[in-house]
Amino acid sequence: MKVLALNGSQNPKGVTYHAIQLVAEELAKENIGLDIVHVGVKAVAGCIDCRKCRTNGHHCIHDDIVNKLIDMLPEYDGLILGCPVHYMGIPGPFKAALDRLLYATEHLEGWGPKPAAAITVCRRAGAIDASHQLQNYLNCANLLTVNSQYWNVCFGWKPNEFLEQDAEGVQTMQVLGKNMAWILKVLEASKGKIPVPAYEKRVRANFCR
Ligand SMILES: Cc1cc2nc3c(=O)[nH]c(=O)nc-3n(C[C@H](O)[C@H](O)[C@H](O)COP(=O)(O)O)c2cc1C
Repeated sequence: MKVLALNGSQNPKGVTYHAIQLVAEELAKENIGLDIVHVGVKAVAGCIDCRKCRTNGHHCIHDDIVNKLIDMLPEYDGLILGCPVHYMGIPGPFKAALDRLLYATEHLEGWGPKPAAAITVCRRAGAIDASHQLQNYLNCANLLTVNSQYWNVCFGWKPNEFLEQDAEGVQTMQVLGKNMAWILKVLEASKGKIPVPAYEKRVRANFCR
């Protein structure tokens, strides 16, 4: 089994990376892998609402990292969204990528139910606001949100501040990793015994009707 972690930081080895690594270490103890994809080190185009993804095999007309992620997803058993706080929200490139990933795939239709978690890191304030933003993507995608013993937030301006001074954030990530490993193993053990729900075609009731 393996988990895909999308790191929305501009710093490939920053605080977000180290928070995700703590989760990865717990998963590794249970022989579960984790791959990190850095989303946002380069600029990412936003959704232009052309709706070509509806007739384009659920891929985006911007043929960039988002289409790569769409092709990668079937290989994975779980998802982590992690990012720093930028002005009380998630960084712009990460929002651009997640908007397009969710829209093109019609909310990851057919991929879930699978476990997923959101992690946000900041120097001082805004981690909960940004966490709510990330949760919004998980909430609409038929995913099983995994939590920890506290909100999945970490504090630090740079990795050493987080790792050396935010003992609670470090432990929160470790517990998140343990919980995610456990859920993955429970789901694996249920295969062939408890079928996933049979979903009917999604109903859409636009509010102008
Ligand atoms: C453009 C920008 C805006 C930021 N805004 C906030 C903020 O609103 N609140 C905060 O606590 N930290 C803010 N920070 C600090 C980062 O969230 C913090 O340093 C974080 O740990 C960086 O994570 P990373 O190393 O994974 O990129 C901001 C940083 C940048 C570059």
